[in-house]
Amino acid sequence: MKVVNSVAEMRAVRRGLTGAVGFVPTMGYLHEGHLALVRRARSENETVVVSIFVNPTQFGAGEDFEAYPRDPERDLTLLDREKVGVAFTPPAEEMYPAHFGTWVDVQQITERLEGASRPHHFRGVATVVAKLFNIVEPTRVYFGQKDAQQLIVIKRMVSDLNMNLEIVAVPTVREPDGLAMSSRNTYLSPRERQAALVLWQALGLASQLWSEGERDAHKIRQKIAALIGSEPLAQIDYISVADAESLEELAEISRLALVSLAVRIGKTRLIDNIVLPSSEAL
Ligand code: PAF
Repeated sequence: MKVVNSVAEMRAVRRGLTGAVGFVPTMGYLHEGHLALVRRARSENETVVVSIFVNPTQFGAGEDFEAYPRDPERDLTLLDREKVGVAFTPPAEEMYPAHFGTWVDVQQITERLEGASRPHHFRGVATVVAKLFNIVEPTRVYFGQKDAQQLIVIKRMVSDLNMNLEIVAVPTVREPDGLAMSSRNTYLSPRERQAALVLWQALGLASQLWSEGERDAHKIRQKIAALIGSEPLAQIDYISVADAESLEELAEISRLALVSLAVRIGKTRLIDNIVLPSSEAL
């Protein structure tokens, strides 16, 4: 596996690649969720490129940019084991040189859910992802459904800006007890780790209500809120039952819906989601 730190070298390596290039953008501290994206990319492309870059512009003031877990050596070992062709690990100055001043701002869908709680988050995500696409020039790019709004925002950007690549959505990878894998799970104490299961239980309840014929989105939100409210360590940031494309809140579930949650467990903010009907994908 080649480890590349500069944009110039990444471009030079890219010029030498033939066949389809699958790309997995990450912020490192890799877990099975990332490796599922890598494995899918490997099965569908000649070469896999993975970027590791903790992108400062998608963190707000007071968020966990400094504390975000990092272990580059372990990450590179894991990627090498997965037969990744290129690991792109640029330093911040390489991605944001002095006088950097151009932003990609996807409108509307970025104002809801995560965007409402984290202003400028998606501007940072869309900008760094657009830059990575321009540098790596991938054929296909792999994103997890765990960050459903991110996936929807990136798909919109790719379509709006006529980017010549395919976005592939990969199902969320979960711990055996249902907790969605996330680098931030490492912040949880054992008691909080137990409490965090309430997210998966809440999504299970939404799915069960839907299967029983409930289509009133308000009732589903209420029942989920009551369940999460019964966990003393959990504080709800948002509960959403929204149209899976526009992310507008639904009154009635009559089309593909995204049920998404952001819940603080102690100081850790966790997100998770499912689509309804669950036989469909984003
Ligand atoms: O999902 C992530 O890890 C990040 O938001 C991404 C897509 C790598 C952009 O920094």
